[in-house]
Amino acid sequence: MSDVRDPRRTASGDVTPRHVAIIMDGNGRWAREHKQPRTRGHYMGVESVRTVTRACARRGVGQLTLYAFSEENWKRPRREVRVLMRLLRRFLISERGEIMQNGIRLTAIGRLDRLPADVRKALDESRDMSAQNTGMVLCLALSYGGRQEIVDAVRAVCGRVRAGELEPEDITEEVITAHLYQPKMPPPDLLIRTAGEMRISNFLLWQMSYTELVVTPVCWPGFREDELDDALRAYASRVRTFGGLVPQSS
Ligand code: FPP
Repeated sequence: MSDVRDPRRTASGDVTPRHVAIIMDGNGRWAREHKQPRTRGHYMGVESVRTVTRACARRGVGQLTLYAFSEENWKRPRREVRVLMRLLRRFLISERGEIMQNGIRLTAIGRLDRLPADVRKALDESRDMSAQNTGMVLCLALSYGGRQEIVDAVRAVCGRVRAGELEPEDITEEVITAHLYQPKMPPPDLLIRTAGEMRISNFLLWQMSYTELVVTPVCWPGFREDELDDALRAYASRVRTFGGLVPQSS
């Protein structure tokens, strides 16, 4: 039987994170280290997406959120943006069989209206096709920014105040959460960042107030099952108190 006093464990006695979020960084550095063009790094990064998605589903992770394209990434050279969008569209189409076989539900967060029409179409079709699946949620953050998400939520809340549906004093954390891109998303338990950078980079700012961070020096194209298991082990060894005290055994 699980011991709920063990501070590594959640109240349900589980050490597998319910929600894993990943900042997939270092595709360019991986390519440079391997004397390959940057695009090869992104291509190999897609292989890591495939492997890690499958591995997370098998390990009982409830949601995997991948920072696939940030609002700030639009500032990259047009050619690189085009390559990333092409890879994304291809992934959305080629992974449909795998997604359905594993009962994965595909979702997305971000300013999705900024995506090219063909990517948006592939995304909508994959989302619709997998909408009834009950396994792991695979959430792609696309044209996503944490500050932008909070701005969009505040705008929506202000609209409700203006319509007379809400008084300013009724605005609580729950009300803000209810107006985020994916209101029902559990907060991430674990954030993994690859390529050694110690930053959150505008990812899930509202949701990550008590998320455990694991930073690995490995670049994303080299991040596969062994590296995932290292991160999950690091998470399992953490003491999570959410601002409270470490429970003492009597
Ligand atoms: C960071 O590497 C990675 C990205 C900007 C995007 C991640 C995209 C993929 C893994 C491919 C497409 C995604 C999916 C879901 C199919 P970087 O270019 O910033 O690396 P660097 O900092 O070393 O230059």
